[in-house]
Amino acid sequence: MSAVEREPAYAAEVFGDRIAAARRYAEHLATTGVEWGLIGPRELPRLWTRHILNCAVVAELITPDDVVGDVGSGAGLPGIPLALAQPNARYVLVEPMERRVDWLQIVVDDLGLENVRIVRARVEDLVDDEIFTAVTARAVKSLAVLVEWCAPVLGPGGRILALKGASVDAEIDKAKKQIRRARLSEAVVHELGVGALETPTRVVELRRH
Ligand SMILES: C[S@@+](CC[C@H](N)C(=O)[O-])C[C@H]1O[C@@H](n2cnc3c(N)ncnc32)[C@H](O)[C@@H]1O
Repeated sequence: MSAVEREPAYAAEVFGDRIAAARRYAEHLATTGVEWGLIGPRELPRLWTRHILNCAVVAELITPDDVVGDVGSGAGLPGIPLALAQPNARYVLVEPMERRVDWLQIVVDDLGLENVRIVRARVEDLVDDEIFTAVTARAVKSLAVLVEWCAPVLGPGGRILALKGASVDAEIDKAKKQIRRARLSEAVVHELGVGALETPTRVVELRRH
């Protein structure tokens, strides 16, 4: 198996006094996360920069009174790094796959994350059950689909924070109709971790009127 990336110095800055829990999370990903098929072994040489820190920097957009739904959480990305980097907000990890939910529960319990709840569901089935002030999503469908699925679980003024790669402008263009129909604001693209991460994190923000 590939060697796990050495923890960058930047990690202590991002996680502050929660750095020990972040290290423990990295250990879970690199061991049972790979064994259970939640993360590929080829991701280990970039585990911190491409995954944990790439997600944690989004904490800049989360406020302490947010209730964040992390849609398609998978191995807890970005939800768990965010819960460590902005511990005053509350988080709901939304994931339909039983095996992934089981793994998430083990990890959340082990890290003692009292601000995190796990819900086994598809987000489009949560309309009458959950309401979020922010929804995060990484590597889950196109922006157009995310808007259709997630706008109904946003409270007034709530926002979608979609972590996207280089294709961000094309994705926004393709989602125009859905954005208008869902009465969301013009897309704002944030670049986070500039100067600290080799590839800064791009986040599309859409706010509900
Ligand atoms: C490619 S994985 C990404 C996982 C994680 N967000 C990451 O960045 O590593 C996509 C995840 O979305 C979940 N998913 C698929 N359809 C979904 C739905 N309708 N609602 C919520 N999650 C869904 C899948 O089970 C899977 O765990």
